[in-house]
Amino acid sequence: MSVIVISGGRRLEGCVHVQGSKNSVLPILAASLLSGCVSVIHNCPDLSDVAASVAILEHLGCRVVREGDTITVDSSTLDRCDIPEHLMREMRSSVIFLGAVLARTGEARLSMPGGCELGPRPIDLHLWALRRLGAEIAEQGGNLRCSARGLRGCDISLTIPSVGATENAMLAACAAKGRTAIYNAAREPEIVDLQDFLCTCGASVQGAGSSVVVVDGGVPLHTAEHRVISDRICAATWLAAGAAAGGAIEVEGVPREQLLPVTDLLAQAGCGIREEAQRVTLTGDGRLRAVPPVRTAPYPGFPTDAQPPVMAAMTKGTGTTVFVETMFENRYRHTQELARMGADIRVEGRVAVVCGVPALQGARLEAADLRGGAALVVAALAAEGESQIGGLHHLDRGYERLTETLRSLGADIVRV
Ligand code: EPZ
Repeated sequence: MSVIVISGGRRLEGCVHVQGSKNSVLPILAASLLSGCVSVIHNCPDLSDVAASVAILEHLGCRVVREGDTITVDSSTLDRCDIPEHLMREMRSSVIFLGAVLARTGEARLSMPGGCELGPRPIDLHLWALRRLGAEIAEQGGNLRCSARGLRGCDISLTIPSVGATENAMLAACAAKGRTAIYNAAREPEIVDLQDFLCTCGASVQGAGSSVVVVDGGVPLHTAEHRVISDRICAATWLAAGAAAGGAIEVEGVPREQLLPVTDLLAQAGCGIREEAQRVTLTGDGRLRAVPPVRTAPYPGFPTDAQPPVMAAMTKGTGTTVFVETMFENRYRHTQELARMGADIRVEGRVAVVCGVPALQGARLEAADLRGGAALVVAALAAEGESQIGGLHHLDRGYERLTETLRSLGADIVRV
């Protein structure tokens, strides 16, 4: 198993052109099933989660070709509606294929997506939305058998602004005759990108980015070409690395407003932040001061996915910062690894109390999940001495060319 070796303590300087968004390309790949035509999707990041989605599309009978960062999906040859367990388990967010397969074929059989490192990942809201649209869903023995002879538009009210449930409802609603209004919809930029893709396919979807998304479904869809937005969580990760190690980091491609909760926090912690429309520059000396409590929340609140890397940056500095993780119940697994580096973090349930320390020491570390792994990389860049990070399959799910990107910023990092 390969590991990343980082010799920390070096300032980071340079500009990163941020990769395409993992959490945007995954639902868009699922949505490419709807048209039964060719979808050309640009700016697709080279990630194992993307490869897992392509494997599902090919299993379903689609023809998929990847050339550089462009993935072309011909879903005209789709000839199945089942997704086997090994493909479902490969990627937890594969549940997003449920709405698309159901919309295209009128039935879907897939195994319940397991929980993941972050804890149980319920899909009750996904199933609620699809049942509201007329789907019959039987859950037996860990499998879902779904059928829908004619989905019909309706009002759907989500008790939680779930990203995945909003996406599944949008995809199924495209095949539902009549109007569907999704209330308390997730407002993430990735939802807006999905709407843009669907409209390019000829669907009538509006309101994404607000709490009410309206779909006028039942219209035939056609070939589309789309460029995926940039990954705001990767951008937040690079900024946290610059804040932790010190230096001057520029991230380009992400609209500044998508990074506001993170840049506001890092500015309060003492970093210099300069913002342009699609570019954010951070300067810092690597010693951060405490900030008021950080509560994760649905967009446009502080993103749960940025909590681990930003927490890693806050471990080196002065004062005490309280984190409250409201979205997932097991998203502090990186804290015990950070403690091995000398970080002072006390976790009580969903609350983590971070007391800044003057310095971190390199250590042998193991990533337990995607963004927790990013936290270990950020801390290792700021630590004195050498760190080794294992569990890289977690990082490969969400960060393309991680070592090359950080090396281009001056980090002493190799993957062996
Ligand atoms: C998406 O996951 C992202 N994944 C996650 O990013 C992100 O952390 C999360 O949204 C929140 O922003 C993708 O987009 C592929 P949710 P998702 O449904 O859709 C509860 C990463 O690191 N819930 O918005 O699964 C759920 O338990 C990943 O890139 C239900 O109770 O998240 C959670 O507490 C990690 N029932 C809350 O809602 C449901 O049916 C928000 O989850 C669905 C969700």
